[in-house]
Amino acid sequence: MEKLFSLDNRLMTCAGFVRKGTKLADIGTDHAYLPIWLAKKKLIVSGIAADIRPLPLKSGKENIEKYNCSDIITTRLSDGLDEIGEWEADDIVIAGMGGEVIAEILGRTPWIRNPGKRLILQPMTKEFVLREFLCSSGFEILKEKACTHGGKNYTVIHAAYSAAIKEYPPSFHYIGMLDEKDELSKKYMFQILKKLRFKSDGAKHDGKDSTQIDGIIEEITARFGDDSNDNG
Ligand SMILES: C[S@@+](CC[C@H](N)C(=O)[O-])C[C@H]1O[C@@H](n2cnc3c(N)ncnc32)[C@H](O)[C@@H]1O
Repeated sequence: MEKLFSLDNRLMTCAGFVRKGTKLADIGTDHAYLPIWLAKKKLIVSGIAADIRPLPLKSGKENIEKYNCSDIITTRLSDGLDEIGEWEADDIVIAGMGGEVIAEILGRTPWIRNPGKRLILQPMTKEFVLREFLCSSGFEILKEKACTHGGKNYTVIHAAYSAAIKEYPPSFHYIGMLDEKDELSKKYMFQILKKLRFKSDGAKHDGKDSTQIDGIIEEITARFGDDSNDNG
């Protein structure tokens, strides 16, 4: 019997948002570690491990067989959720992709606009684009949790459709629902601040208006503190 592996902090944070007993779809599954781990822990009733490329899907399938999970998890060649049926998944994980790609996948999948479905999204870049998409498309960000991977900090966004289009300040697209009392969230925000300061300096250098970026920087600093002594 294969000994079960541990999930890394990033995938473990995603796993923490998955509802017990759910039907899971893991989009961009690659190695299929997340659905395998959840199946072995008896936390899901079914799982679809989907990927756009046959090679990662093959490695996912081999792992599913290695860990004897073929009765619970099936693989699917799919661009985003294109080949997944509405009835097949209630919790959808999309992890390890850029925020723009995740937003694009969600934007062309009408059936996720259902308050019963849950999205667990872990963007590697452009989180602000993803939050902006969610907020302007009737999705509500229920919770967020920072995670760490390869020396960098990321966020995991838990969202559901509510149909309400609320007005958020521009800073929300950068801060989301992260908690200023959480140390990892702080480190994550310091990373974001660094990028925003770079953007602001660039705008100033090019003689462009940096007022909005500077306002966002100010709001982040007021809530999360000043990162000038932090290199993380
Ligand atoms: C960096 S891996 C992430 C694997 C795993 N989800 C994780 O977070 O550890 C990204 C995977 O997403 C897949 N992918 C990229 N674009 C996709 C799309 N539009 N639909 C489905 N899978 C996609 C890639 O083939 C790759 O296997």
